[in-house]
Amino acid sequence: MLHKMSIRPVRRLVTAKPTLEGAGVRLRRAFGFGATADFDPFLLLDDFRSERPEDYLRGFPWHPHRGIETITYVLAGTVEHGDSLGNKGAIAPGDVQWMTAGRGIIHQEMPKGDASGRMHGFQLWANLPAALKMTDPRYQEVKAAEIPVVTDDDGTVVRLVCGEFGGVRGPVDGIAADPTYLDVSVPAGKRKTLKVATGRNAFAYVFEGAGAFRDASPPRAAPTDGVGGPAPAAENRTLVLFDRGDEVTVEAGEEGVRFLLVSGEPLKEPVAWHGPIVMNTEAELRRAFRELEDGTFLA
Ligand code: CO
Repeated sequence: MLHKMSIRPVRRLVTAKPTLEGAGVRLRRAFGFGATADFDPFLLLDDFRSERPEDYLRGFPWHPHRGIETITYVLAGTVEHGDSLGNKGAIAPGDVQWMTAGRGIIHQEMPKGDASGRMHGFQLWANLPAALKMTDPRYQEVKAAEIPVVTDDDGTVVRLVCGEFGGVRGPVDGIAADPTYLDVSVPAGKRKTLKVATGRNAFAYVFEGAGAFRDASPPRAAPTDGVGGPAPAAENRTLVLFDRGDEVTVEAGEEGVRFLLVSGEPLKEPVAWHGPIVMNTEAELRRAFRELEDGTFLA
């Protein structure tokens, strides 16, 4: 008998919350600084997008990280960065920077808008397992041109930021949680099903247009009788958290829909989290902040 694919039910839709971060950046937080089990191994997703430079130019000046990886994906404007290892550079539109903080890094991240003042980027935090919390810090920089783009017959475009999709492997490797991070554009009115390995936690984050992420085939062109009717559309800035299953289905609205689709194997470890440092125990957290105070954090 053939294996029947099971569509992941939508557990909930959440609108990203306006949040003030860094030295005064107005951004939207899709999730973060709350219960971590639903998103494990991911901790946080920020959407920093504005056409007003005063919303982002203050940036994220020098701050530490330990115990996590941060993944910055830029769509408009650039993010200039520098760190305690002496690295310096700019993340341009379409580029991805994957930073493994490991035992410690101190860096700054300064968004600079494009010529018309536009800035748009995402930052995702992935947790490191206990065995790798104190690993050597490292960067993987991926330029836009190196990101594989898969275009399907129906016009769906998938940019493969990380992981594997349709037999194609993205350029970032050696990431503890083996995440899959896709940027998916589905044309207006099209219905698309995408595989997501069973057992992973998965979420989508809509950032253009709107689409309905469905549990099962809706009765098409049938009058809505209140039973099995259309799923609510996930609009711009909506986080969609999925339940178990091995694929997700979305039906794009009139303007099409573009979203991030991210999944990873849960670590299932205790989380002790304060600000930019995420460890397994309170003692490890105290040690990190003590080291920051006495100047031995990077030693
Ligand atoms: Co940072």
